[in-house]
Amino acid sequence: MEPSFWHEKWQLQEIGFHQYQVNPFLVKYWPRIGLAENSKVFVPLCGKSLDMFYLAEKRHTVLGCELNTLAVEQFFTDNDLAYQVTHTDDHAVFSTDQVTLYQGDIFTLPTSVTTSIGGFYDRAALIAWPEAMRQQYVKALAALIPANVSGLLITLDYPQESLKGPPFAVSPSWVETYLRPYFNIELLECVDVLADNPRFVNKQVPWLNEAVYKLTRKP
Ligand SMILES: C[S@@+](CC[C@H](N)C(=O)[O-])C[C@H]1O[C@@H](n2cnc3c(N)ncnc32)[C@H](O)[C@@H]1O
Repeated sequence: MEPSFWHEKWQLQEIGFHQYQVNPFLVKYWPRIGLAENSKVFVPLCGKSLDMFYLAEKRHTVLGCELNTLAVEQFFTDNDLAYQVTHTDDHAVFSTDQVTLYQGDIFTLPTSVTTSIGGFYDRAALIAWPEAMRQQYVKALAALIPANVSGLLITLDYPQESLKGPPFAVSPSWVETYLRPYFNIELLECVDVLADNPRFVNKQVPWLNEAVYKLTRKP
């Protein structure tokens, strides 16, 4: 989506994507990434996700990128965290000891920022993009992930014609086609989560699958 779409959503606080508890797939499958304490985890399109606290509790440092200033500020203020702000050419950088959030466009995030990451976590980032922009995002993500670094990807899939995104449907075959050139892919779990998503039930979406993949950047 265009930046204006997301800025309006944050301004109006229409943030149905935000989860008020840590994502259960993250809790269940993060150990499969096998990351040492003190490793840095990249969270693209991070919003104000509480999943970043889970990663920090695992003693990782967190490096997020988020377009909207309000989202970044709310991440810290909602959780009573004091932060410092510095500026690069294209981003404002909000930081505490363990969490650093680059506020600005992921497409202008320099690859030098992510060279030292040990893992990554994409929840509601890939599926935030319509088909036309999704491939551009995959290219940008692949450029930001160093060789042999692993992470989790969480997607939703449903008949796209039954609902206007975001979130957009991303099928296992789409993942296979467009991510395989850059990543080794392991499907960890795929479950029907329709009953837990009233918006989809109300729109009579017939099925809704949530999938979690382990991705490892190819050398
Ligand atoms: C669907 S939300 C997901 C947020 C978060 N991952 C979560 O699980 O709550 C997508 C987020 O991506 C941000 N975003 C959209 N386009 C972006 C871009 N070009 N660069 C960085 N962030 C972007 C939006 O502001 C929004 O907060």
